[in-house]
This record gives sequence, C-alpha cells and structure tokens, in this order.
Amino acid sequence: MQHSSARNRSTMITTDIESFTRSFAEDVHRGLSAAPKHLSCIYFYDYQGSLLFERICRLPEYYLTEAEATILRTFSEEITSYLPPEAALVELGSGSCVKTEYLIEELLDQYGKVTYSPIDISRRMLKESAMSLLERYADLEIISVAAEYDEGIRRLEAHLDRPKLILWLGSSIGNFEFAEAAYFLKNIARLLAPEDLLLIGFDLVKDRGVLESAYNDSSGATARFNFNLLSRINRELSGEFDLDLFTHKAVYNEKRSRIEMHLVSRCEQDVYVGDPGSSYHFDENETIHTENSHKFTMEAIETLSRRAGMRMVKQWLDDKKYFCLTLFRPDRHHHETET
Ligand code: AVI
Repeated sequence: MQHSSARNRSTMITTDIESFTRSFAEDVHRGLSAAPKHLSCIYFYDYQGSLLFERICRLPEYYLTEAEATILRTFSEEITSYLPPEAALVELGSGSCVKTEYLIEELLDQYGKVTYSPIDISRRMLKESAMSLLERYADLEIISVAAEYDEGIRRLEAHLDRPKLILWLGSSIGNFEFAEAAYFLKNIARLLAPEDLLLIGFDLVKDRGVLESAYNDSSGATARFNFNLLSRINRELSGEFDLDLFTHKAVYNEKRSRIEMHLVSRCEQDVYVGDPGSSYHFDENETIHTENSHKFTMEAIETLSRRAGMRMVKQWLDDKKYFCLTLFRPDRHHHETET
C-alpha cells in the first residue's frame, strides 16, 4: 500500500493567540501587586516549561503519569468500545502524546485509519509532537489546532465531520478551582454532539507523603519547573529576579484537597520588572502562590459531573487507586432544560 508523506497528513489550524501573550505582563503586574502574591500556572508552559513538565512526567515520584498510562494501556480496548465507528480523537493539550498512543494504536487496529487533533497554545509543541507521531504511524492523519481549548473545539467543527472522543488527560483539570472546572466543562458539553464523548484523568486523594514527594522530587525537576516562571519573567518582561533568592515549596492542604505550590523569598528584597516598569517588595519568607493541584474523591467527580451537565458513562482505576479515568457524555436533557 502507498502511504502519503508525513507532511501531507498534517494540517495546522492557527487562531489569534496574540492577545493571550499580551496579557502576561498585565497578569504578572496584577499578581505581584496583590496580597498574597500569586501568578497563574498557565504561564508555566512556554517551550522551556513544557520540556521541564515532560521531564517531571518521567519521574517515578510523579506517579500520575504512570498510573494513567497503565489504565490506558490496560483498558484501551474497553474504552474505545464506547465510541461510535470512525470516531476522531481530540486532545486538550498536546504534551501527553505518549499516553495517547495507546488509544491511537487501538483505534488504528480497529479502523485502519485515525484522525487525531491536539489543541494547544504552543505551536512548537504541536509541530514537534505531530511530526514524531506521523513518522511512526503511516495511517494517522493529524489536524493540530493552535488555540485555547474551547476556541479550538469550535474551530475544529469545520474540519471534523464525525463523532469525537475528547481527551483531557494528566489531571490538568485539577489545576482549576472546582467551580471553574464545572463551568469550563459545561461550556465544552454545549459544544459537543450527543454521540461525542469526553475522557478525563483525575488524580485521586491519597496519603500526604505520596502527594508531597510527587511535587518535591529529589532530582529538583519540579523546583526548576516552578522557577521557570521567574526565568520567563526575566526573559520576556525584562525582570530582574535573582533565582538564588527564592526557594520552591509544595505542601498538601488537606482541607482543600490540593497541593499548593509557592516560590518563597529567602530575604526582604525589591524586584524590578521592566514591562510594566514596576518594583515589587518582598518580605523575608513572603511567597508567590504559583499553582493549585486539586486531588479528587469519587464523590467529587460525581458532583462535578452533575454541575457540568455531563453524564458519567464509566470509570477506570489503577490497582493502587491513585488515579481515575472517567468517561463522560454530554447530558442533553440538562442543557435543554437550562435557561
Ligand atoms: C499539568 N498539571 C496537571 C501538573 C500537576 O500535577 O498539577 C503540573 C505540575 N505541577 C507540578 N508538577 C506538575
């Protein structure tokens, strides 16, 4: 059989992500002027940060990746049995391609041909992951979308004329506040056709020791990932952060079921940032809150599902019950009766 070249099987849809980049300076100014100081974890993922995150995913202490991969490897046939024939795979984020491969391979076995659409704000990550997948799988077609998630799904409508399984892996949902996650899912549910499905990875509540070592790994990769936020401000906004004057901190807040990540100032200091041209004062031990990573109970997943107007179809867990993949379907009734 003749296969077309990797380039012919790849399409990139781009949207205006300029406005997203422009808000970095404003968000940094707002977050560093606030009390307590905070920065949004969405800014971790420039190219450098995405590479650091990939390194984290390979650490044994960061059990999430392996737990989720094991579930996908073990149950790929069962998971795909819920899909209508010829369904396309859509993924929110493109960093987790390694895990997605289990589903791609399963669908290639069943359909012969598969369309995969990663949606991500990093064009470079999209390009790199598409090329490596296309070289490996001759019957794969890739439609990449450089956009934020909901805009990406909307843009895909014109290019995908078949049912889809949307993947949101890695417990990225945990980086949202509960109400935000429900709101986000509700908007996605509205964009889905009745036969579309959504598969989401949830990191589950567990022993504090296991959780805290996942975010304080011995190789220091998570600390570097956290520090990259300051490096990025130095690089892109002419910031003058001295990284040696900060430490990485990640603790489990049991009451709120979440890991909270901070950058802690070792001393009293003032730091100048060229764009927007302001200095920020830090007391000794004052922190910048950089990330929340929520951990879920099975009840919390159910509540989220109800609030988002989704119906749970099936759940899969690993042996240790560290991680849960949940398959959802949009609940038509919910969205039709809502005003
Ligand atoms: C992407 N997200 C689900 C990761 C998490 O576990 O919250 C990001 C991360 N932060 C520190 N390590 C990994």
